[in-house]
Amino acid sequence: MLPINSSLIILGWVRTVRISKEVAFIEINDGSSMKNIQAVITNPTAFPVLDKILTGAAIRVKGTLVASQGQGQKYEVVVSEIDLIGEADATFPLQKKRHSMEFLRDIAHLRPRTNTFGAVNRIRSKLAYAVHQYYQERGFYYVHTPIISSSDCEGAGNLFRVSSFDPNKIPRKDGGIDWESDFFAAETYLTVSGQLEGELLATALGDIYTFGPTFRAENSNTSRHAAEFWMIEPEMAWAELTDNMDLAEDFLKFLLRYALEKCADEMEFFGTWVDKEVRQTLEAVINAEFERCSYTEAIRLLEQSKEPFDYPVKWGLDMQSEHERYLTEKVFKKPVIVFDYPEEIKAFYMRMNEDGKTVRAMDVLVPKVGEIIGGSQREERLDYLVARMKKHGINDVENYYWYLDIRRYGSVPHAGFGLGFERALMYITGMGNIRDVIAFPRVPRWAKF
Ligand code: 4AD
Ligand code: MG
Repeated sequence: MLPINSSLIILGWVRTVRISKEVAFIEINDGSSMKNIQAVITNPTAFPVLDKILTGAAIRVKGTLVASQGQGQKYEVVVSEIDLIGEADATFPLQKKRHSMEFLRDIAHLRPRTNTFGAVNRIRSKLAYAVHQYYQERGFYYVHTPIISSSDCEGAGNLFRVSSFDPNKIPRKDGGIDWESDFFAAETYLTVSGQLEGELLATALGDIYTFGPTFRAENSNTSRHAAEFWMIEPEMAWAELTDNMDLAEDFLKFLLRYALEKCADEMEFFGTWVDKEVRQTLEAVINAEFERCSYTEAIRLLEQSKEPFDYPVKWGLDMQSEHERYLTEKVFKKPVIVFDYPEEIKAFYMRMNEDGKTVRAMDVLVPKVGEIIGGSQREERLDYLVARMKKHGINDVENYYWYLDIRRYGSVPHAGFGLGFERALMYITGMGNIRDVIAFPRVPRWAKF
């Protein structure tokens, strides 16, 4: 903190200007914090440039730091010089009134300058740092898995294609497309998950994590789905499903605690303007022991409920968001880890249970957001894995030889999960739409800016 009477220079953007004959006030924000600094001009007539300084302009102010005379701020700056660096005229779209989230999405190139998106972008940065801190302090190595991939990890077919073909001249061969002549001599996609490659590195380094962009061409226009989102995927060798649950619970609590302790200004802002209960919600989660409930038990609870669900509930069917939210919001009123899902509805790589019907999957469900983490213990037995891949319609099992080789040579039990970074941010900030926790969202029919 600078001492009172220091002279200083402020570089920032004008939030508001109030000019009278005797005095002028300019609220300036430089993006570094929630708070503006107020510049006070005691002789406005000596600064003709004031006429051109409107909301949104970039200015440089030189002055002296003083204790504020007015209400609402401790300090202010008495101005000796002002330079207008970048003008903004009256068409600047972010005027003082409150704007709707929808309006701001249409001007995503300017919305970082609002209080809300300043707070979102700052907390996003701090929590990204927290992710690294968490894993680095626990001996996990950060690995970079490829963004271009030739496999569909989740087997859901929601892939964006990567190709260097000229779309008007796609080479054909034997009645199909000649992928052999494409850039990678194979069909390639933007990855949906770094997991498969993460497993290769975990079975060499021990514990690893990835933190990178992942892509899904799911045409689901919901508030919780993005076509491009960031995922954190830890993978642990020598670990089973309970180790995975313990890590997921501890990691999530760490992020929430970090937000409350290290992002106090932003959290106060979200608590005031976005979700009044956000602090209590996070505190409750930090202090709660997550419920652990098998899929079979979860289905029983849903069947018993008198809730009029839109989608059917039956053992063997995937749970919909309404079911997940019912379990976590109404039944347990805290985060729930649902485990041991039917093998038909979960990806090929999950470890088969003794019963031959369920796999060692786990999803962490939280109130309001629903699924925030998905993971599993991996199938480390070669024969089981190959059988399951075939059952799940993977016809080119031989192309996965690199994935199978870690089961052929020195196979170990291992487990991991994926946390959707934006889902975590939604939960922590209380922001209701995934489009509003990432600076430049990618969703169906929208890839502007
Ligand atoms: O459950 P998912 O599909 O799991 C995997 O991708 C595993 N390979 C992870 C692993 O075991 N290493 O996705 C994991 C998480 C979800 O729980 C959700 O938080 C987030 O990623 N997620 C999405 N977030 C935003 N938009 C989407 N379209 C998302 N799809 C998944
Ligand atoms: Mg999932």
